[in-house]
Amino acid sequence: MSLDNNDSIIWKPAMSVGVDVIDNDHKKLLNLINEMDYIIHADVTQKYGAIESVISELIDYTIYHFDREEKLMEVCGYPELEKHKRVHESLKSQVQTYMDSYQRTPQQFKPEAMRIFLNLWLVDHIMSMDKDYESWMQGKNEIIKKTNAEFETLSN
Ligand SMILES: [Fe+2]
Repeated sequence: MSLDNNDSIIWKPAMSVGVDVIDNDHKKLLNLINEMDYIIHADVTQKYGAIESVISELIDYTIYHFDREEKLMEVCGYPELEKHKRVHESLKSQVQTYMDSYQRTPQQFKPEAMRIFLNLWLVDHIMSMDKDYESWMQGKNEIIKKTNAEFETLSN
């Protein structure tokens, strides 16, 4: 799969993992990546400031989403939780590495490379690893709702 400058990613029903709050997080992350793409190609003043703010929003929301997803996998008894958490950790550190390199030398930073990396990573992760827990969450709406409500209370 290759992406050119004009590819924006759109959430499709085929990406659904059957849990609304998680699907909504995925849509939000895809939107942030598209926003980054827009800033990269738009003729905006303060471009680097705008890129920095979208990267930091992406980092924050990614961490928030992964925490939510891990809590829900845990209460649903998903057996591959530890493996999935390790993949999340590695993505978090890669995104942080992009942010560090941006802050060190903003003029040399290639936001497009980061955007493509995230684009591919997220879609691939949703379609493979996230889809894998779908059946473990089916029919567990009560516990999902309760756990998510606790999670949101703690996070605010
Ligand atoms: Fe995940």
